[in-house]
Amino acid sequence: MRLFSILLVLFSSNALAASEPVYKNPRLPVEARVEDALSRLTLEEKIGFLSGDESGFASRGNARLGIPSIQMTDGPVGVRMGQATAFPAGIAMAATFDPLLVSEAARAMAVETRAVGRDMLLGPCINIVRQPLGGRNFESFGEDPFLTAQITRGYLQGVQGQGVIASTKHFALNNQEHKRTEIDVIADERTMEEIYFPGFHAAVEAGTWSVMSSYNKLNGAYASENAYLLNDTLKKRWGFRGFVISDWGATHSTVASALNGLDLEMPSGAYFGEKLLAAVRSREVPERLINDKVRRILRAIFGSGLFDSVRRPHPSVISSPAHLTIASRMAASSLVLLKNEDHALPLRNSRSVAVLGASARHARLGGGGSSVVNPTWVTTPLEALRRSAPGVQWNFAEGARMRRDFDSIPTSLWTTERGRAGVTGEYFNNPNLGGTPTLTRVDPGVDFDWVWNTPGPGIGGANFSVRWTGYFHPENSGNIILTVRHDDGARLWVNDQLVLDAWQDQEETISRVPLKAETGKSYKIRLEYYQHGGSAMAGLGIEEARGAELEEAVALAAKSDTAVIFAGLSRFYEGEELDRTTLSLPEGQDELIGRVADVNPNTIVVIQAGNPVSMPWLAKVKAVVFAWYGGQEGSRALADVLLGKVNPSGKLPVSFPVEWRDSPAFGHFPEDQDQPDRVTYSEGIFVGYRHFDRAGPAPLFPFGYGLSYSSFAFKNLSVRLVDKSAKHPRVEVFFDLTNTGTRTGAEVAQLYVSELSPSVERPVKELKGFTKVPLRPGETRRVSLTLDRSAFAFYDTNQHAWNAKPGAFTLRVGSSSRDLPLEASLQLE
Ligand code: BGC
Repeated sequence: MRLFSILLVLFSSNALAASEPVYKNPRLPVEARVEDALSRLTLEEKIGFLSGDESGFASRGNARLGIPSIQMTDGPVGVRMGQATAFPAGIAMAATFDPLLVSEAARAMAVETRAVGRDMLLGPCINIVRQPLGGRNFESFGEDPFLTAQITRGYLQGVQGQGVIASTKHFALNNQEHKRTEIDVIADERTMEEIYFPGFHAAVEAGTWSVMSSYNKLNGAYASENAYLLNDTLKKRWGFRGFVISDWGATHSTVASALNGLDLEMPSGAYFGEKLLAAVRSREVPERLINDKVRRILRAIFGSGLFDSVRRPHPSVISSPAHLTIASRMAASSLVLLKNEDHALPLRNSRSVAVLGASARHARLGGGGSSVVNPTWVTTPLEALRRSAPGVQWNFAEGARMRRDFDSIPTSLWTTERGRAGVTGEYFNNPNLGGTPTLTRVDPGVDFDWVWNTPGPGIGGANFSVRWTGYFHPENSGNIILTVRHDDGARLWVNDQLVLDAWQDQEETISRVPLKAETGKSYKIRLEYYQHGGSAMAGLGIEEARGAELEEAVALAAKSDTAVIFAGLSRFYEGEELDRTTLSLPEGQDELIGRVADVNPNTIVVIQAGNPVSMPWLAKVKAVVFAWYGGQEGSRALADVLLGKVNPSGKLPVSFPVEWRDSPAFGHFPEDQDQPDRVTYSEGIFVGYRHFDRAGPAPLFPFGYGLSYSSFAFKNLSVRLVDKSAKHPRVEVFFDLTNTGTRTGAEVAQLYVSELSPSVERPVKELKGFTKVPLRPGETRRVSLTLDRSAFAFYDTNQHAWNAKPGAFTLRVGSSSRDLPLEASLQLE
């Protein structure tokens, strides 16, 4: 009799005495409860567990036994269900090189997940950054498997420590958006093991309750029905005991998916509903496999505490001061100072600063797609600077427009029919403004993004409509453009004349209507909107007519002490299903920076983006800050770094190539030339710095790089070989790290390992240890890092296993992958 069965018998008799079913008893072991619940389910009920319900974001439970469904929300940088704290992008989390801080942020996300009544957060996203154009690189943790694994552990500990189920995604080799649902990724075994798998393996070791399979194919088979990935690697070799959930709509078969390792089909049961039941009845899929799948889901339900807890939404903790503080610390800690000639930063003596670029006036919270969080509030960099240093003259000019930026008409330019500030909104619980409104209120303007949320009491999340009426009082006379942002349909009347009719289902669209405006006049506005399903947005804004932005910005820069240009990308340039095609900044921003630098010698560039960009103007500017996407506290963090309240300490989790052709994936992205639906990872294990170290064109900025307002010195390396056998090596590394500057700051000490004469080609060096050390001016700390077998091993394709061989190794320590002043050798036997 297996141990479980013995336990079960014991516990069942115990429970019988107490007349409470074993599965309901929180004091009994999870496995016993899982087996008991499973034994009570009919085949039909078991199949019921294996697909999503009609909401699109929940599994199905079992009402008869009182087993709850799993209510999900998208992550991975905040809760996507109504308003929540928008945390910095995944790539920014990685740039902190601080797994503990990541863990704190993830914990806050888990608390907010519970607060909106959900049980599972769809994150972390840990796909390796293979190339710098990938639309979702911003969600994940960079190019290095070791860094990714450490950040992943921190994240999972934070989320699951709160009893929230995490879903580590997307397994595996999901490194591009181009043709994401059909592309066949061709990669060899060693490449998968050394580069693309370690993060997922770490997630399994850290106890992730769920893994999401990816959209793409891997070596010919869809990830969601890939036996090598799901059965052989994840479940058998790594011993994963949680459940595999498909990405949304990524399931393509019933029998193959069921046999090859998929457990839960999302968002619905196209393949794992009736069809799976039929396949079990016809014996194509054995019932024991169905049991295994249900067991895995039940394990998460009991193991996470979901079964024993009551869902009690408590929205008051959303964006609590504690959560905002963590988001803000994380944003600040992720900022990377790339250049700082003549100590141009922090800003000191400038009385007038030209603040330029569309990204100064629009908060760039993150990239696009399912990770977009509806923030509780936002502030723009311009506002944050003005608030932090009111004594400085911060003069703004846009310089270059960015695609789909939207500025809603401010409350101060609106009055209702009764003369109150704002617009009157009438909300109808049907899509055609029928009958009397369910809700009438005065809105401050029209700027709504209802992410999986309803506009108000009594209105559903779909099939509703709104009519806004009010008077618009333009600030300036001249040709302006009214912008209507809508998903789905919209109609606009100005002074009772229909000027826009876009009354059909559509994705987020910005429609433009020209208006000759006169100050002193008021314009009667009526905007009608309906939402059918999916995401829901409505906005009414204004845009100045286009023309002389660039010249205005250059002129402003010429007469200011300093110019700070906020450049970069936004969620409309990189995101889900949106790879870039070039490293260049879009919309003439390179020209803007170049022209401004020509007229102002104190030009500072701030880039907000989730991926490297090329910097043809680098030599001409004084300072560059790379800010990623900082979430809703990002602007404040940026102001703090620019003004010197925070000392930057972020490091690059990706190498920055000078140009796209220097990237290892160049020529092998987005698809093979001879076979369009396939992409061959010809660079193998030489991804990121592994490529630049070996082949080399020098990168523009190397992996691990980032400056500080302070300076640091590494000294006195010593290495202790606790165990020098190649079978179980254990090496302790010690060194002194001193803050040699005049400001408190933090340095990320990095330890790289190289094998001197490897039996197969290995990377020149690999990151195997790091720690972020805060130091006061003049302070020295003795830092220690420990290496085990995983620091020396490579994946040996002859043995199909990791192998560390006797031989000589070099250890290097320093502040980036290209600045490693300390060096020592050791011999494994
Ligand atoms: C994305 C997933 C996401 C899911 C649900 C998919 O398109 O790839 O990352 O969790 O949608 O929104």
